[in-house]
Amino acid sequence: MEPDKPVSRQLPRHVAIIMDGNGRWAKQRNQARHAGHRAGVEATRAIIEYCVCTSIPCLTLFAFSSENWQRPKHEVSLLMELFVQSLKRETDKLNSNGVCVRFIGDRSAFSARLQKQIAETEQFTQDNTTLTLNIAANYGGRWDITQAARAVAQQVESGTLSAAELTEQHLTDAMCLADLPEPDLFIRTGGEKRISNFLLWQLAYTELYFCDVLWPDFNQQYFDEAIVFYNQRERRFGMTSEQLTQVQN
Ligand code: FPP
Repeated sequence: MEPDKPVSRQLPRHVAIIMDGNGRWAKQRNQARHAGHRAGVEATRAIIEYCVCTSIPCLTLFAFSSENWQRPKHEVSLLMELFVQSLKRETDKLNSNGVCVRFIGDRSAFSARLQKQIAETEQFTQDNTTLTLNIAANYGGRWDITQAARAVAQQVESGTLSAAELTEQHLTDAMCLADLPEPDLFIRTGGEKRISNFLLWQLAYTELYFCDVLWPDFNQQYFDEAIVFYNQRERRFGMTSEQLTQVQN
């Protein structure tokens, strides 16, 4: 499917998505939860294509949270297998579409096989510039802030930074995705209205869009609706509407 380029719309530079609703999608069809995750991969593919075709330069997807380990063992291992297989299958195509794939999160908890596949995909696609696709896996926003705080504390410990000099920017620089623009648009499918420990630091000024569609049903048309919503927002970053008009003129 080739979406038309939205002509007069402003596109977000970075979209972050919580892909929720795979389990319910499968349940509605009397299928095992895994069938929902498999269908979720198809939806993921269409959304990546949308970003490539419309020139949205960054996409971050929440594939597996730090809390998802609490799911039944069987579901976790099937999900891990799905990640390995999807990466194996999709890496060439992602590469030929100019997609740079990166993972954020604590990958040390994954099997050696999955870690190897992640490293191979990252290395193979690292020079691509059309779309940066960040896959958050074993990721948590609090984990991210903690690892950034640890990195900054090490600078203080080693004497390269004093506690008094520490600014927000030092933490921002140590967070995952520090080299990318912060997300302009956050989307959560599946009806829940929560951020669920996703990019807590990076979402400070992001426009939040929640929709009831279950992730396997989320398609390019629904993505378009989210972009329309985004275009209706007035992003004030703490300023008044009047100040914003002055800045823009
Ligand atoms: C949430 O639905 C979905 C997940 C925990 C897994 C998301 C993973 C994919 C869609 C596969 C993407 C693959 C790659 C390689 C990026 P849920 O199970 O919480 O659904 P429910 O709320 O209806 O139970």
